[in-house]
Parts: sequence; C-alpha cells; structure tokens
Amino acid sequence: MRVLILGGDGYLGWPTAMYLSRRGHAVALLDNFVKRRWEAETGGRPLIDVPKLPDRVRAWSRISGRDIAHYDVDLCDYASVVRVLADTAPDVIVHYAEQPSAPFSMIDVHHAAATQSNNVIGTLNLLWALRDHRPSTHLVKLGTMGQYGTPNIDIEEGFLEIRHNNRTDRLPFPCQPGSFYHLSKVHDSHNVRFACAAWGLAATDLNQGVVYGIETDETKLDPALSTSFHYDAVFGTVLNRFCVQAILGTPLTVYGRGGQKRGFINIRDTLRCVELALLNPAPAGEYRVFNQFTEVFGVAELAETVVHSATRLDIRSRIDHLPNPRVEREDHYYNPVGSGLTALGLEPHLLSQELVGSMLRNIGAHTDSIDRAAILPVTNWRRELPATPLLARG
Ligand SMILES: NC(=O)c1ccc[n+]([C@@H]2O[C@H](COP(=O)([O-])OP(=O)(O)OC[C@H]3O[C@@H](n4cnc5c(N)ncnc54)[C@H](O)[C@@H]3O)[C@@H](O)[C@H]2O)c1
Repeated sequence: MRVLILGGDGYLGWPTAMYLSRRGHAVALLDNFVKRRWEAETGGRPLIDVPKLPDRVRAWSRISGRDIAHYDVDLCDYASVVRVLADTAPDVIVHYAEQPSAPFSMIDVHHAAATQSNNVIGTLNLLWALRDHRPSTHLVKLGTMGQYGTPNIDIEEGFLEIRHNNRTDRLPFPCQPGSFYHLSKVHDSHNVRFACAAWGLAATDLNQGVVYGIETDETKLDPALSTSFHYDAVFGTVLNRFCVQAILGTPLTVYGRGGQKRGFINIRDTLRCVELALLNPAPAGEYRVFNQFTEVFGVAELAETVVHSATRLDIRSRIDHLPNPRVEREDHYYNPVGSGLTALGLEPHLLSQELVGSMLRNIGAHTDSIDRAAILPVTNWRRELPATPLLARG
C-alpha cells in the first residue's frame, strides 16, 4: 500500500514508517518539526539525541535498501496538504501529527490555544483535502483513551447503546476528558465521524493508551534509527518518569494517592495495531473506533512494578507521593473494552517483559544525560495554585 504518515518525525511516526517500509509498503512522511521547537521552548529534550529526519531517512535507505519520501509541511497549511496528497496518492493516511501533551495544553491560554488550533485545524484540513482530492483513502487517526475520562461504567469502543424513555440508539460514547489536549482529541473525533457520515470517507479512530518502550525491531538495527524517549514533566509519560527516577535512585513521584487507572500499550503493539487497521480498512462511509491498549495499571501500582523490576538490576528505589497537580479522580472504576484489535489478531507484549530487558537497561546506559530539573511537575490544573515556573526554566 501507499502509506502517508503524518507526524513522521515523532516518537511513534518514525518507528511506524520503518515498520511499514520493512513490510513492503511505500511510505511517505509529513512533519513540520514543531515538536522539536516545543521541546526547545519547554526544556523537555529527549534522553537520547534524535537524529534529524533526513539523516534517519538516509540511514534507513542505507540499511534496508528502501526509500522513504518526506515533506516538511504544516498540516495547518491547507494548500500544502493538498499538494502532498496529489504527490503521494496514499491508500492510507496514518495521522499522528498533533500536540500530544496534556501538561503542555494546561500551561496557559497560549498553549491551550496552540494545542487546540494545531490539532483541530490540522485534522479539519485533512478531512476537507480528503473529501475533495482522495475520498477513497482510509484515514487511521490516533486518538487517546483519555478522551473518555474515568466514567463509572465500562468504556465501550467509541459508541454506547442507550435506552432512554423507551427508545434506544447507538450514540458516541460520552466523553469527560481531563485537559485541553484531551478535549482537542474529542473535537477531532466528532469532526472525523461527521466527515464519514456526510461525505462517505472511511476512518478508524485508534483511542490509544499511554505508550511505553524505547526501541522496536527497526530502531535496534542502528543508533541512527532511534526514536525519542521523553521523561520530562511536559512530554514524558508517567512510566518513563518512574523509570528514570528509579535509575537515578530518586523517589518515584506518584501524583496524589495513585489510584488513577490508565490503559497502557507497548510501542511494538502500537505499530502492529496500526498495521492491523491498515490491512483491515473501515468501509467507505464508516467511522470506526478501536480502544488501543493492552494492560491497565493504577499509577501507584505502576510505581511498585518499576521499583520491583529495578531490584532485579540491583537498583534500590522508593516511592513518594506529591500533591496532585492535575484535576482527576484518584480512586475510581475503570474497565475499558479492547476487543476490536484483539479480534483482528493483536498479540500483546507485556510491560513486565519490557521494563527490565529494555527500558531500565537502556536508560541506565544514558544516566549522564538525564536532566534532573526536568522531571518534577511544573504545570498545574488548578486556578488557585501558583503560576507555572516552566517558561522561566525553558
Ligand atoms: N505517545 C503516547 O503515549 C500517545 C498515547 C495516546 C495517543 N497518542 C497520540 O499519538 C500521536 C503521536 O504521538 P507521539 O507520542 O508520537 O507524538 P510526537 O509529538 O512525538 O509526534 C507528533 C509529530 O507530529 C508533528 N506535528 C505536530 N503538529 C504538526 C503539524 N501541524 N504539521 C505537521 N507535523 C506536526 C510533530 O512535529 C511531531 O514530530 C499523537 O496524536 C498523540 O496524541 C500518543
């Protein structure tokens, strides 16, 4: 297939490009490198320097003998998006090109607006460009499990059968997201669903859990093919932060009581899920949703798992609780359904296998590069707390 990956310079975009290229698909990438600028602004540099995209593409061509095209284009620039669609004529578009951080979106009005305009307008441009130039292209769009929030009922895959006043309907699952970033994903989902219904487009929304993992089969081929690993308070995920804290021997900082439960997925499984969506496309006119996660952990439970895994490498670590900078439930019911991708053939990698064998060892090899000042939270969700010192640091 001809696959266009939006956000191809990112943590997930680049490994997806190599994974699909290796399996014989013709891959093209679009990215405007805005994430690298946001990293520079917030001081959230990846643990290991990530080679520039043209260098990674050259390295991939040398190592695999396969070429990947790339375009330095902003998804918010409609005319350029149309030009890339005409150039690449994709059968599938994998859309990762969004601002992916909740704390970033909660810094101030400018970051909230930048997040929502980048994510919502970029996706809207894409939908109109597909309508007018490539309506048969299957759109595989990355959403997040955080769209749903933490309702006191099971979380279905995108839709809910509702009975109300003796009538029933299948309606979009009610969303209660916890940041302006997560809200941008909800707005996207409504726009994509509407475009499928109105124009007959075909789309798969992958509501993904927190992704972990520092390497894939392709990144391991050569250091020049590596992807980003963020552990900072803005772009790092909770698990990455815990792993880095364990390696440093500083306490693992659980926000609040740590009963917050979330879905998690190994980066290798993300690539497989995208492949499964691409090989089993949604039919024209259908907006399809899969919940893309493989395991559920509470935050405190996750910290304990990291502490336990670290002891297997003779690293002693411990857990501290910080006042929660986020507004979120700390004890709640959480039971998301994730059967759609399993039915298509997903076989999960488990966190316990990845932690010792890959993540902790890899981070340990780069201990000297860790910026300790970047780990603790600098953005808060509450009005009454002091303003963030983030920009002063960045
Ligand atoms: N990594 C996770 O744990 C996770 C979990 C759930 C959902 N997601 C979603 O998956 C997607 C990819 O996540 P990631 O971790 O790889 O993020 P990332 O920030 O590493 O990659 C996103 C890439 O998109 C590019 N981009 C952003 N806006 C753009 C624009 N307007 N035009 C062109 N390029 C643009 C960025 O420069 C960046 O390279 C995001 O949509 C994110 O919300 C990620």
